[in-house]
Amino acid sequence: MNIGVIGTGNIGGTLARKLSAAGHEVRVANSKGPDGVRAFAQEIGATPVDIRGAVEGADLVILSIPFPAVATLPKDLFDGLPAATPIVDTGNYYPGLRDPQIAELDAGKTESVWVSEQVGRPIIKAFNNILAHSLAELGRPAGAPDRIAVAVAGDDDAAKRTVMGIVDQIGFDPVDAGMLAESWRQQPATPSYCCDYDAETMHEALLAAVKGEAPKTLNRVYGLMGKLGPNPSHADIIAMNRSVHSGN
Ligand SMILES: NC(=O)c1ccc[n+]([C@@H]2O[C@H](COP(=O)([O-])OP(=O)(O)OC[C@H]3O[C@@H](n4cnc5c(N)ncnc54)[C@H](OP(=O)(O)O)[C@@H]3O)[C@@H](O)[C@H]2O)c1
Repeated sequence: MNIGVIGTGNIGGTLARKLSAAGHEVRVANSKGPDGVRAFAQEIGATPVDIRGAVEGADLVILSIPFPAVATLPKDLFDGLPAATPIVDTGNYYPGLRDPQIAELDAGKTESVWVSEQVGRPIIKAFNNILAHSLAELGRPAGAPDRIAVAVAGDDDAAKRTVMGIVDQIGFDPVDAGMLAESWRQQPATPSYCCDYDAETMHEALLAAVKGEAPKTLNRVYGLMGKLGPNPSHADIIAMNRSVHSGN
């Protein structure tokens, strides 16, 4: 596939690297034009482009930029992209920690529904509930006993199947998390969030989420993150995330 990746940081960069290694034609962009991403593109065997170059002619677009930056993208960015082409959103909203407050989200709007409204297109939510380290290091072949899962939510079945296919291809079990309006179940501070669960446990954790609880739980998570200190290990973060909903 021709895959355009907008945002080459922890998540977008890791996805671009893995998708290029898997044989896809990957184009990468950040906010600085082709020159700003040229060295990274060369390193991973991708093509450096600007954000419009990442979208033009793409079979799949991955949007992996800081959450509030979605609102600053050109409103016509996706106008030329066929309606059937999946746009993947990896974003998470961390109000009061990393991101400025966004009133609609604070009032309860589902994060990826807001993203979809900002870009004027349906989107598929994926790769938001796996840590960048897990994405980079924990991919396993299908059937491996320690294979972990990634939740995928969206309204268009064909687009969702395509995204689930790339999740599988780069080493993770895709779990269908339902419609985009249900994707609050995979947002920060929910039971499935960044816990490195296998597919069955991920599915159960998505079902265990309670609407409206995560914003209250998030403050507790911030407190626990503070206690982990400035350089927590990956294992510590996963253990902390799991503990939030296990009562430990
Ligand atoms: N880190 C994780 O473990 C993790 C896990 C799951 C989901 N997420 C979510 O995924 C999203 C991305 O996270 P990240 O950790 O990958 O962020 P990051 O490391 O800060 O990378 C963000 C990327 O977006 C680019 N960018 C910023 N503004 C842009 C714009 N207006 N247009 C085009 N590119 C732009 C940045 O490059 P320039 O600034 O140079 O343009 C950078 O390449 C966030 O919503 C995050 O919450 C992160």
